[in-house]
Amino acid sequence: MESGVVSRIVNDVYQLCRPDDSGTLADYIPELAAAQPDSFALCLATADGRIYGTGDLDVSFTIQSISKPFTYALALADRGTEFVDARIDVEPSGEAFNEISLDPVTERPRNPMINAGAITAASLITGSDPVERFERIRRCYSRFAGRELSMNEAVYASEARTGFRNRAIGYMLRSFGIIDSDPDEAVDRYFRQCSLDVTCRDLALMAATLANNGRNPVTRERALSTALTERVLSVMTTCGMYNAAGDWVTSVGLPAKSGVGGGIVAVLPGQIGIAVYSPRLDAHGNSVRGVAACRELSQRLELHFL
Ligand code: DON
Repeated sequence: MESGVVSRIVNDVYQLCRPDDSGTLADYIPELAAAQPDSFALCLATADGRIYGTGDLDVSFTIQSISKPFTYALALADRGTEFVDARIDVEPSGEAFNEISLDPVTERPRNPMINAGAITAASLITGSDPVERFERIRRCYSRFAGRELSMNEAVYASEARTGFRNRAIGYMLRSFGIIDSDPDEAVDRYFRQCSLDVTCRDLALMAATLANNGRNPVTRERALSTALTERVLSVMTTCGMYNAAGDWVTSVGLPAKSGVGGGIVAVLPGQIGIAVYSPRLDAHGNSVRGVAACRELSQRLELHFL
């Protein structure tokens, strides 16, 4: 498609979705409620490195659960698929992201996109000490984004102060032998990864790197192997939008991941990465304008492929 046409569609979708001020900011992590509620950005990056964006493209927000596919990717690269599969299933859960649950038959977290699976993935990252293990996550995400990302200390402190449910999940995982290291360290690493600051442009490039088989289309650096990229996209397809996953797949038709910071990424494999930022959330914890913008873009650019 001609670039002028794509640019016009991105702008039209932005204008169409902008008036919707429904939804509420996440406030269960107190610092998240400090976001500017009306911020809105939409960015599309192609697998050959063209970028189309509009709105608050350079406003920073924390990546939150959009981190989950990327840490899962690094755990797969560090430990191999068989080792990771023995600890984290790849089945949709239909549950809330922070459900304190394991599959009753396998006694494993149902997938890496809910917190139980994400905390397990964080526990599997290799490195000589906790500092290096988190640093490897930060560098991995930075390769996807094509620039050095850093952590938002205020959000991290806020989450660390209030994250008792995630600690409960960490201890449950340790008691079932899913995590065999210190659960507090794994949960702390998960809090840190969720607190990495990104912009909408960063997320679009992270999504475009997944679209481009794991190679960043701008820096040309490889962030993930092609085989693992396919697996991560598959899990995003079935589990990325929590209990709204079925609705998302039928209306948008793209692998995706959302975060309570207000970001959403969606990927058309081989072609396009999309990112939206708007921090007002619906009842599922997904950005209201983000879901609407992805649905519109998918229709207008005919991206629905699932
Ligand atoms: O586990 C938590 O509470 C957060 N740090 C991440 C949550 C999140 O983004 C869930 N998703 N929509």
